[in-house]
Amino acid sequence: MAPIGVFDSGVGGLSVLRHLRAQLPAEQFIYLADQGHVPYGSRSAQEIIQFSQGITHFFLQLKVKAIVIACNTASAAALSLLRDQFEVPFVGMEPAVKPAAGQTQSGKVGILATGGTFASERYARLTAKYAQGVSVWEDPCVGLVPEIEAGRLDSPAVHHILQRALAPMLAAGVDTVVLGCTHYPFVLPVVAGIVGTAVTIIDPAPAVARQTGVVLRQHNLLAEAEQPGSVRFLTTGAAEPYARQVEQLLGLADVVVETAVWEGDRLSVNSNR
Ligand code: DGL
Repeated sequence: MAPIGVFDSGVGGLSVLRHLRAQLPAEQFIYLADQGHVPYGSRSAQEIIQFSQGITHFFLQLKVKAIVIACNTASAAALSLLRDQFEVPFVGMEPAVKPAAGQTQSGKVGILATGGTFASERYARLTAKYAQGVSVWEDPCVGLVPEIEAGRLDSPAVHHILQRALAPMLAAGVDTVVLGCTHYPFVLPVVAGIVGTAVTIIDPAPAVARQTGVVLRQHNLLAEAEQPGSVRFLTTGAAEPYARQVEQLLGLADVVVETAVWEGDRLSVNSNR
């Protein structure tokens, strides 16, 4: 009956949550958006580790049975360390370099992720292992996460950032583009409009949801199929705007949001629940 903790710097991980809810409909989720610190992509690995540890402590106080890091940047910086430090099972994310390298016909793939993800050792290991013989084009899409956080999914800025990122990739002959940041699936229609139908776009969220099911089953932690699932939404930012964001992005109505507050490196919930 215990919940699953899911976190991201902001609304990005909602693109993972929607697949988690679809694939694991009996589970109780707690989704924490660390909007007090968004974006993570331009922060140091040390800061992101500190936030991720604080969020993990917080989730453990809420008695979660597993944690999904619905953020490539936080997974890149903190996943191995968290696995060493805490007993709870973690599911993390990484840009889908392996599937992209496996399916490209042109031998050229484009990766859209944050600067933090690209700078990480985890990403370097990933490309060294799986992208041999494949040319990889990377772009950190600077400014895209703040646009998505502001609910502007189709703005001139979004078109400009993606056009600038994707044009050189297309010119080079890339036939596969990886959405390596969980915010980016929310601008998938813009990406698709730019790259056209001949390019495959990979969103790893469905695979992450499947992997979460595998991990829960391995640990004998799956919820009973008959019980109805639920989501508890928390933000370290402002509750009301966030509630409207969740409604917009997940197509829900009357979303209630609680606020979580950072005190030093610890989080606590600010509500009457
Ligand atoms: N959504 C996150 C990711 O998958 C981080 C975006 C950010 O805060 O920069 O990388």
